[in-house]
Amino acid sequence: KNILVLNGPNLNLLGTREPHIYGSETLSDVESKCKAQASASGASLSFYQTNHEGALVDRIQAARTEGVDAIVINPAAFTHYSIALRDALLAVSIPFVEVHISNIHSREEWRNKSWLSDKAVAVICGLGTFGYKAAVEYCLEHIKEKSK
Ligand code: DQA
Repeated sequence: KNILVLNGPNLNLLGTREPHIYGSETLSDVESKCKAQASASGASLSFYQTNHEGALVDRIQAARTEGVDAIVINPAAFTHYSIALRDALLAVSIPFVEVHISNIHSREEWRNKSWLSDKAVAVICGLGTFGYKAAVEYCLEHIKEKSK
């Protein structure tokens, strides 16, 4: 099984960025945990972060030819306005789980709106970085491997 974990803008600052909201774990902590979790199940997992919308679109498009079975994505601020990201995920038709570290429904009202949620397999928010673990576990257990 082949899982891709994607992270949008400012998540490279995880651990130092508003730690009262996002916690003290770094993105590389999250990456090592996700990779260990996948390899314990004999799956492969790639992890990618970018601050650039187009780069994220390119990475999603590449996933199609790489035979990615499932995407776990924290789109960060792109969640709230990126139609390009939504279209890219729909174009590759790879099932995805949307993750937010914070509870986007208990913050500013404009964070309630996601351009992805209605197309996601599931949305996890407010569980802190545990959300990534839950999403990866779900993909490992429930999302079918593509027939090659
Ligand atoms: C976030 C929530 C978004 O509203 C915000 O722009 C982020 C992080 C989260 O993980 O809680 O950058 O996606």
